[in-house]
Amino acid sequence: MESYVVSDVITYLLLLTLTTTLITFPLSVGQLRPWRDGDEDSLVYHASNRRIWNNVRDFFPYPYTPRDAHAWVRSNKSYHQPNNLAVEIDGQAVGNIGFTVKDDIYRYNAEVGYWLSESYWGRGIMTEALPIMTNYIFQNFQVNRIFACVLEGNVGSMRVLESAGYQHEAIHRKAAVKNNQYLDEHIFSMLRTEHKELTR
Ligand SMILES: CC(C)(COP(=O)(O)OP(=O)(O)OC[C@H]1O[C@@H](n2cnc3c(N)ncnc32)[C@H](O)[C@@H]1OP(=O)(O)O)[C@@H](O)C(=O)NCCC(=O)NCCS
Repeated sequence: MESYVVSDVITYLLLLTLTTTLITFPLSVGQLRPWRDGDEDSLVYHASNRRIWNNVRDFFPYPYTPRDAHAWVRSNKSYHQPNNLAVEIDGQAVGNIGFTVKDDIYRYNAEVGYWLSESYWGRGIMTEALPIMTNYIFQNFQVNRIFACVLEGNVGSMRVLESAGYQHEAIHRKAAVKNNQYLDEHIFSMLRTEHKELTR
């Protein structure tokens, strides 16, 4: 009986290692891979940046504390099919790209989001990462549309989306508030059919 339990645990751990290892995607300068224990210090170091926070939702912590980092890693590590992948460069987690699937009548929509350590901005890293995440979502999840919301002035993010083939579909005028200022929100999207065309 006990040996059954031991072999089950070993099988489970092997499968977990295998599935977690499989979900890695090479980048020219590193890789996308699941979050894991040990990423916390790097996460705090790279994520705690007002210039990142200025372009993301308010729930993204600023300052980004060790407690925030532990909570993030705990809820994102070791998933069979993670929603969030760390951008790893030189062995360090220096950014994130991920998505959330919406619910109710929007349940075939995924909202994609990403951030990168300022030390690595402008090197084409997110331009490389977004098509990978887009493929990953369409291949593994029942999603018909992927969209992103970009705050006005965030030219870099808009370029990342355009380069990946996302359509600039709408501007929600002064829909967002950041730093006590109303800002336009630019909506970019890609449909499954468009993705199929792009990757044919
Ligand atoms: C947006 C962000 C992820 C871009 O990542 P990145 O790896 O630096 O982007 P890339 O190097 O792939 O650059 C993409 C394009 O934008 C341009 N770009 C990047 N930053 C720019 C800036 N501040 N102003 C103007 N253009 C910029 C690049 O020159 C490149 O243009 P190209 O495609 O014509 O060559 C990164 O700046 C970031 O983390 N910002 C803060 C968080 C954020 O905005 N998240 C997205 C919320 S929607």
